[in-house]
Amino acid sequence: MKILAIDTSCDETAVAITSGRRVLSHLEYTQIQTHKKWGGVVPSIAKRAHAEKIDYAVESAVSKAKKIDPNISLANIDAIAVTVGPGLAIALEVGILQAKKLAAEYKKPLIPINHMEGHIYSCFAENSKGLPKREFLFPYLAFLVSGGHTELVLVKSHLEYQIIGRTRDDAAGEALDKGARLLGLGYPGGAALERLAYVAHNTDEFRFPRPMLHSGDLDFSFSGLKTSLLYFLKKIAESEKNNKIHEIASSYQEAVFAALSKKAEIAIKSTGVKLLVCGGGVAANNRLRSLLRNLMKGVGGKAYFPPYKYLTGDNAAMIGIAAYYRWEKQMFARNMDVIDRAPRLSLENSINLI
Ligand code: KG4
Ligand code: ZN
Repeated sequence: MKILAIDTSCDETAVAITSGRRVLSHLEYTQIQTHKKWGGVVPSIAKRAHAEKIDYAVESAVSKAKKIDPNISLANIDAIAVTVGPGLAIALEVGILQAKKLAAEYKKPLIPINHMEGHIYSCFAENSKGLPKREFLFPYLAFLVSGGHTELVLVKSHLEYQIIGRTRDDAAGEALDKGARLLGLGYPGGAALERLAYVAHNTDEFRFPRPMLHSGDLDFSFSGLKTSLLYFLKKIAESEKNNKIHEIASSYQEAVFAALSKKAEIAIKSTGVKLLVCGGGVAANNRLRSLLRNLMKGVGGKAYFPPYKYLTGDNAAMIGIAAYYRWEKQMFARNMDVIDRAPRLSLENSINLI
């Protein structure tokens, strides 16, 4: 069975065609260069860029998938999946309208999907040859680390989620981006911090405060850490900042990741899970991957990350894969007119999307 999936939740116009967990084609048109000069995503610009690209993205996804299966066409796919939230309302709307239009024109069922659910399923994506092979070991822990979210989620079975930890202010990716901006590394800054930290061998020379380590729960808070970097930079001379930029970047990244891995460790031990899956933009980071892998090794379990680079950022392949598990339960939109954007949609409320 084949699904055409669309995601326009933020600054990527993404379309994919999936077959079960296999990705037959995927396209992500990024707007990052357009938003860069504003230092963040501007919703009205994102909406316009999505609207300009969406028809072409759908056509291209179909023609790319034909190289793997020449029979694929919009007329013979089985369903259309679309992200309805969370995300930027007016950006989400572009994808939802497109999905509704195609579903009506080709008389296909419509499957609404939570974007964060997609980030979880991104870890189970397979290429067109069915690799890598991975198992769902329920219950497992999903760690979602992106520019907008930091959540620890207990996944009890397909579509059954319990959020057991979340950020109280900035998301992990946002904390990295804000730190990188203070250091003059541009936007978004997660990958730039990783590069500098790597050069400094992930040193923790400046030991910035570890936020919320002893809060007694599984929540996160990063706004204080960003403030401590700001004060630190005010105290030192520009020349010292320049000389020590690698070590400062590395220490900042270590402080963010210490909070992430400590809370993940508590969650793993208290739930007894043997599988951790980590998705979202920050899951691209190799330092974080090795910290989380080590945690799971310590309890005789394993950690999965998105198996291909494009799956760490926003993409539609992950939406198609999540949709497959709704398809199995025949969870289609009963009335397309009530399917609407849900900018603040939570995973725990997503079972009732239809
Ligand atoms: O999931 P994503 O592409 O977009 C959403 O927020 O939904 O995540 C973007 C975030 C940004 O904060 C970016 O700085 C971060 O992912 N990121 C990274 C790396 N690559 C992207 N953070 C740390 N290390 C990286 N290599
Ligand atoms: Zn995302």
